[in-house]
Parts: sequence; C-alpha cells; structure tokens
Amino acid sequence: MEDKYFGPSDVQLVARRAKALFSIVKSDPEFAWYGRYVALADFDTGGFETFLSLIRLQGACPAYWIAVDKADYVETALLNAGFRADRFEYVISEGDTLRRAREILSGYDLGGDLDVIRLGPDSSEQDLERFAGVAMDGGVLPPPASVLRGDTRKGVFLMAKDRASGRVVSCAAAIENFHPKSRRADHAFWGMLSTLPEWRGRKIALILGARAIVTLFEDHGFSKFTTGVRAENGGSMALCAKLDMLPGKWCSYVGMDPAQFTSARVTK
Ligand SMILES: CC(C)(COP(=O)(O)OP(=O)(O)OC[C@H]1O[C@@H](n2cnc3c(N)ncnc32)[C@H](O)[C@@H]1OP(=O)(O)O)[C@@H](O)C(=O)NCCC(=O)NCCS
Repeated sequence: MEDKYFGPSDVQLVARRAKALFSIVKSDPEFAWYGRYVALADFDTGGFETFLSLIRLQGACPAYWIAVDKADYVETALLNAGFRADRFEYVISEGDTLRRAREILSGYDLGGDLDVIRLGPDSSEQDLERFAGVAMDGGVLPPPASVLRGDTRKGVFLMAKDRASGRVVSCAAAIENFHPKSRRADHAFWGMLSTLPEWRGRKIALILGARAIVTLFEDHGFSKFTTGVRAENGGSMALCAKLDMLPGKWCSYVGMDPAQFTSARVTK
C-alpha cells in the first residue's frame, strides 16, 4: 500500500524516493535513514561521489558528521556540482544527555491541561495528521505515516494535546537512524520539536523532547543523540544545550538539486 507523505509536493517526492531507496540500501552501513531522506551516514567514510549520487537520486539529501573545518570545501564542491547547499550545525550528545533528560522529567511537568500521546501501530489517521500538522506549523518536516506508526524504524513520536480543545500543541521525536554496524550506531536522531506559537515558553518542547529521549532509551537502548540545527535558531540551540546537546565540532549539509527540488529547504 502507498505510504502517506507530508509537505510540499517536491518534499514528498524526496521522502517517497528515500523510502524506496532505503529498501535497497538498508544493509549498507554507509547510509542512514529516519524517514526524511537516505543520507550519507558519515562524510569521512562515505565518499563525496556517493553523496552527489544520493542527491541526484533523491533530489535532496544530507551528509552527516562533516568536521567544521571541511565545511567550506563541502559547500564549494556542492555549488560547483550545480547543487544548492544548506548547512546545519550538527548538535550531538557530548555529556550525559540521558541523565539531563531524566532530571528535566523529574523537575518539571506539563501541567494538568495537557495529555501526552505516543504514536504507534494503532494510531488513527487523524492522530498522524495532528502530529504532522503541528510539526509543519513550525516548519519541521514529519516522516511518512509508516515511520510515525513504527513500521519501519525504531522510534518514539510524542505529541501534547490540550484537554479542553482537543488541539495538539507540540510534538517531539527520537528515531533510529544509523545501521547497527556503522561507527555512529550508538547515536539516534532526536528532534522534530515544534510548539504552536501561543503555547511556547511553557517548557512543553523541553519536556516532550526529554521524554522522547528517555523512552527511546528504555525501549531500544539508545543513549546518544544527534540533531541538525541552523546556527541562527537560537531558541532551538538553547533548548538542546539544556539536554547537553552541543554544536561546535561537526556540521551537516543538505545538497539540493535545483532541477528536481525547488522548495527553499527540506525542513527547518
Ligand atoms: C523551538 C521550539 C520548539 C521551542 O518550543 P517551546 O515549547 O517554547 O520551548 P520550551 O518552553 O520547552 O523551552 C525550553 C528552553 O529552550 C530555550 N528556548 C526555547 N525557545 C527559546 C527562544 N525563543 N529563545 C531563547 N531560548 C529559547 C530556553 O532555554 C528554554 O528554557 P527557559 O524557558 O528556562 O528559558 C519552538 O520555538 C518552535 O516550535 N519553533 C519553531 C520550530 C523549530 O525551530 N524547531 C526546531 C528545529 S531545529
């Protein structure tokens, strides 16, 4: 059965191609996937030519774990190949993210007006749409429905719902990304944080994010996490720092092929 994809049509096409591509390359540790695109898992070992091929095949995709002193080289090479280049700071667990997440959960609570819902195999279409809706409200791309339901990747997808109105006001996720034989296999993707503007500043994203971390650890053993944040997204950077997730050593670049992909970017 065809999956359900979210976002503008060219973004949906990337995610659709990525899912098909991953079904072919999933045994190769050089590739990573958490539902958006098949990425070059590790720039140092993956090879630049493979990165270019992944962009040509999907229309857009990132390479991870690029040392920041190689950023200029990567950006210039992507532009010379005729692609657009979108830089993210690669924010990673430097210390004890799990302990910080547990401290956040014991120190704060969401308040009695919100319920937390975890997506899973029995989630309704409406709940998947609600998660996707609040993510996209913040410019954040959700993965396809099959990933949200946990069919294809180990993952935790949480959303906070206002009891009074039934409205979903915030979301967060943590998802398996790397092949078990990759040297990065102990890291999972974490993020997809988005809170509706009128609900911001109540620590909802921090609490949901901490809960996604602790739950993925309890269910699947991941205790280290990575995420991509734009340098200018100070709010997100500050939130990550509270979980001991810090930028500085690494970046990632999404390469985009203008012939196939015209949206300004895949995700915030
Ligand atoms: C980033 C975002 C998810 C934060 O949601 P939120 O529920 O308001 O965040 P919280 O209240 O849990 O914030 C927790 C901490 O993060 C930091 N933070 C969050 N928003 C911030 C802002 N605008 N400026 C500075 N720090 C901020 C603060 O340290 C805050 O702790 P404090 O309240 O003790 O100062 C929300 O602003 C959003 O949806 N933005 C658009 C989508 C986005 O950028 N997602 C991240 C993509 S990488």
